[in-house]
Amino acid sequence: MESKRNSFTGKLGFVLAAAGSAVGLGNIWRFPYLAAKYGGGMFLLVYIILSLTFGFSLMVAEIAIGRKTRLSAIGAYEKLDRRFGFIGIMASIVPAIILPYYSVIGGWVTKYIAGFVTGEMEAMASADYFGGYIGEAVEPIVWFGIFLAITAVVVMLGVEKGIEKVSKIMMPVLIGLILFIVIYTLCTLEGAWDGVVYYLKPDFSKFSIMTVVAAMGQLFYSMSLAMGIMITFGSYMKKDISISKSAHQIELFDTGIAILAGLMIIPAVFAFSGGDESALGQGPGLMFVTLPQIFETMPGGAVLGAIFFIMVFFAALTSAISLMETVVSIIKDKTGLGRIPCCLIVIGICIALGLPSSLGYSIWSEVKILGMQLLDFFDFASNSVLMPLVALLTCFFVGFVLKPKAIMDEVELSERFKQKGLFSVMIRYIAPICLVAILASSILGAFGVISI
Ligand code: TRP
Repeated sequence: MESKRNSFTGKLGFVLAAAGSAVGLGNIWRFPYLAAKYGGGMFLLVYIILSLTFGFSLMVAEIAIGRKTRLSAIGAYEKLDRRFGFIGIMASIVPAIILPYYSVIGGWVTKYIAGFVTGEMEAMASADYFGGYIGEAVEPIVWFGIFLAITAVVVMLGVEKGIEKVSKIMMPVLIGLILFIVIYTLCTLEGAWDGVVYYLKPDFSKFSIMTVVAAMGQLFYSMSLAMGIMITFGSYMKKDISISKSAHQIELFDTGIAILAGLMIIPAVFAFSGGDESALGQGPGLMFVTLPQIFETMPGGAVLGAIFFIMVFFAALTSAISLMETVVSIIKDKTGLGRIPCCLIVIGICIALGLPSSLGYSIWSEVKILGMQLLDFFDFASNSVLMPLVALLTCFFVGFVLKPKAIMDEVELSERFKQKGLFSVMIRYIAPICLVAILASSILGAFGVISI
């Protein structure tokens, strides 16, 4: 079994593959709307601190678990200690919850490509267009179906490698375009600099427990932590590649793109709303409302808009492929069914959970779980409940059952692990305390016991 496992070639190969799967809608769509909503500079500061301490420690632990056992999540926890195999199972449920609603948003992106190509930019730039569009029952479902179908075809035909190659070329173009939009916005749109101040300068009066809850959830989501993904990546990593350096590089890359995406969107929100801060709290629609407005003011904006959304589409597609791949391989390992039947099961799950997520904005808008729209509920259940829970269990397991030394020994096979102290204190004490606080506040908040 072990000898069959392919390894990534070279140092950069590992980091690029992991970062490529980590960069997706989380960075470009989710991060900016959360940063806008939860206090701008304050959110950014909390996010960066969490990513350097907590995110780093958890990523090292997951990669090391994978490399030590040479297995993916379910098998890895089981091999280390049979009593804790259930952590792997819980972690594996997360991608199955994320993929359906990820595909709904992928559908929105696909629709926007079509909109730019067919000359609808002006209509799309009006403030109510997006709300009207997702308020329709049928059209968003059609685009969701198209996005899901493309993902499924790639996974079924096993042509991921080809798509990954394309997306590797797209990634630098996407970064270049984001940079261009940032510069354009700051140089031409009046009032944009107020947005920069809001986004980069922490305002401590904006701090709330919700800032931490949201930042932590985003950290898991964006870096694909607490869902077994990094364990799988680690299982393919060679023993002579530095785990801690790789973790730092993935973090830096992922956070860098997220911060840039925020800089692309938040100042523009200020410019278009004339500094009205209530425009910041729009939630999931923020990117879809703001970007067409920017492109509309640009010469050649329709072409650039179409190119931009095509790049975002590829970033989303590679993430969706890797999510689907993960769920398929879990079902395959557990049931022994063939690849195609497993794909069909996963497509079934996506339709069963994705349809309600999409309809939750239109004819099912009355249907709420714990006061949340269905898509928000799935997002909440995975990011604010299940992932912190998996992270907490992982910390407990690594800190007190397996012991941090086992992870450190694995890391030290290839390097001197400089942040040993940080790692051990983080995994044993600080992270669990934060995670319990976060879980408690998000659950109590959802049930309306405390206001968050
Ligand atoms: N991190 C991805 C993003 O930022 C989303 C994601 C979550 C993901 N879990 C994943 C991607 C698992 C690939 C595999 O959009």
